[in-house]
Amino acid sequence: MTASKRPLRAVILAAGQGKRMKSRKPKVLHDVLGLSILSRVIKAVMALGVEHVHIVVGHESEQIKDYLEKHHSTAITEDFKTISPITTHLQEPQLGTGHALMQVAPYLKDFNGDLLVTVGDAPLLTGETLAPLLETHVKDNATVTILSTIVPDSKNYGRVLRDENCRVRGIVEDKDASEEEKKVNEINSAIYCFKWPDIEEGLKGLKNDNKQGEYYLPDLAAWAVSKGLILSASVAEDYREVAGINSRVELAEAIKDLRDLTAEKLALESGVTIVDPASTWISPEVTVGQDSTILPGTHLMGNIKIGSNCVIGPNTVMKGNVVIGDRTSVVLSMVQDSNIGEDCKVGPFCHVREGNTVGNNVKLGNFVEIKKSNIGNKTNVGHLSYIGDTTLGSNANIGAGTITANYDHLTKKKHKTAIGDGASTGSNSVLVAPVSIGDKAVVGAGSVVTKDVPSSALAVARSQQKNIDGWADRER
Ligand code: UD1
Ligand code: CA
Repeated sequence: MTASKRPLRAVILAAGQGKRMKSRKPKVLHDVLGLSILSRVIKAVMALGVEHVHIVVGHESEQIKDYLEKHHSTAITEDFKTISPITTHLQEPQLGTGHALMQVAPYLKDFNGDLLVTVGDAPLLTGETLAPLLETHVKDNATVTILSTIVPDSKNYGRVLRDENCRVRGIVEDKDASEEEKKVNEINSAIYCFKWPDIEEGLKGLKNDNKQGEYYLPDLAAWAVSKGLILSASVAEDYREVAGINSRVELAEAIKDLRDLTAEKLALESGVTIVDPASTWISPEVTVGQDSTILPGTHLMGNIKIGSNCVIGPNTVMKGNVVIGDRTSVVLSMVQDSNIGEDCKVGPFCHVREGNTVGNNVKLGNFVEIKKSNIGNKTNVGHLSYIGDTTLGSNANIGAGTITANYDHLTKKKHKTAIGDGASTGSNSVLVAPVSIGDKAVVGAGSVVTKDVPSSALAVARSQQKNIDGWADRER
């Protein structure tokens, strides 16, 4: 049977308090490069095509449930095809990782397949890391398969015990380990594959006669051996990908590791130049095209797609769903939930807020803020402008200091502005929405436009200039 043919479910253990985080927020909801640890773990298990995700919650369970409702109510896998339902299971009180899995057992009555069980606090976990575990489990026809890894410093982890033939015999927790056992640097990642219902008897029989008085899930390893069942192990190549975090110091370490792994991947696989990886924070969801350069101090957080031959940064922030076309540069600027076309120049000091679609060959210059606007090809918004709720045509030129006054303070409503193809506005114009400026129309500098301007017309809405001869000489 292949790995994909057997029914597969996932269990994520997320009921623990995470005392060492010193946080009111549950540990698994802390952010790691734009996504919570829990979301990262959910993504990882879903990448394996699990049919259901059971999440064990306890400490601050309401916060976690609210979070799941908000962010995973329609849990869709990465290919946006399969829908995997998520359910939560309350563990109250929290008596250990074995006890946590016991809470799911009543919901597995009709289930016959493999259970992928993982801790909820491993932020760098991905489907790629989990796949070999599942493969080994199926290939060895094992009842219990553990995912272990080799760490430089094994303190606090459960150690993997092997016999003289190198076969795994069990796991001993740090607090219960002898001095000799503590020297072992192969550790339990607390990520496992179990055959269900084959382990149910072992789970029910777990004892809490250990230093912490908890029901340890890792004890199922030794139980399998004692019953003559197959215990197998898969060793994760890079310990950083499975490491659990327990404090904010370890959280910072994990974020840094993910930053480095992401930068390495972009450089080696996509041909991207990241000038200073240590000051460049890119979430793993970001894709960047060949020969683009990311300059120092840049943060790219979210589902961001950057084309090829782009220059991004220095000191540029992008958030949410962003698309940047080929050969576009974004310098010292902020971009949020927007699409920007090819060959554009953005910045320095430009704020592209949410909901914009910007065409090709567009210039958005310094101190320009745009929001919920469409901007056509070859249009310039060069300096000191606010363009909000606006449809702006192509080949238009927006003069320095042009403002779309879109907000009616009394009715608290936003109004729309339309500016046609080839139109231009003079410096310091205020376009009071709702208003439209026709194709090729011109707005004189300093105008406050409150009425629609027909195509090709000139609108001048300011008091006429009066020159008083000799005035200055007389006053002096
Ligand atoms: C656990 C493993 C250890 C392993 C390490 C890897 C046990 C007993 N030990 O230790 O072998 O090396 O992970 O990171 O399993 N949880 C619950 N309910 C509970 C207790 C914990 O849901 O009653 C959840 C936590 O929310 C957390 C996960 O289980 O996501 C692990 O708990 P934690 O207390 O961090 O275990 P470790 O001491 O790190
Ligand atoms: Ca842990």
